[in-house]
Amino acid sequence: MAIRLGDTAPDFTAETTDGKIELHKWLGDSWGVFFSHPKDYTPVCTTELGRVAKLKEEFKKRNVKVIALSVDPLDSHKGWIGDINETQKCSVNYPIIADPDRKIANMYDMIHPNALDNLTVRTVFVIGPDKKVKLTLTYPASTGRNFDEILRVIDSLQLTAKFSVATPVDWKWGDDCVVVPAIKTEDIPAKFPKGFKEVKPYLRMTPQPNL
Ligand code: BEZ
Repeated sequence: MAIRLGDTAPDFTAETTDGKIELHKWLGDSWGVFFSHPKDYTPVCTTELGRVAKLKEEFKKRNVKVIALSVDPLDSHKGWIGDINETQKCSVNYPIIADPDRKIANMYDMIHPNALDNLTVRTVFVIGPDKKVKLTLTYPASTGRNFDEILRVIDSLQLTAKFSVATPVDWKWGDDCVVVPAIKTEDIPAKFPKGFKEVKPYLRMTPQPNL
């Protein structure tokens, strides 16, 4: 069954390139990004894994742990990491799950047989510190993901978890935010001392509260 937003991310124990990992225990109080790849030694995946390695500091400053999955075995992953480091000028610094029996891929509904036979498509799960699924993305094998967008969503999720705001179209760090409809307009000044603009009674904008 598909995993939906708000569901608890299914827990599992897996063999990874960093040793055995129990997902929930390993995540601890961190946020998580769990993403799948069709196969080892494939070109698009190689570029994605390199990019994620280079974003280490961006994930760290957001308190995010990253974990990848590919259905090939551990030895294959280890050899492939050498190629990723060489070609992408990086050092893979996060675990890659070996899932040759597709146990975890099936648990997370990462195999879409009508798109790609018996291999995982490109899924992304963002998991909150409460272990709930906050974001799901599914990309075809032929399209590499945009990890700037994944960081942008994490920024939005972390902001909206703390303040009564949502983020509008194309929002990026520093842009104005939307005051959520649950807040009455007369209560906004006390909650948002930086001010607000009422564009319509249902569309109230305020500067990003945590800057
Ligand atoms: C790739 O990662 O390059 C890839 C994997 C499976 C199908 C197409 C592309």
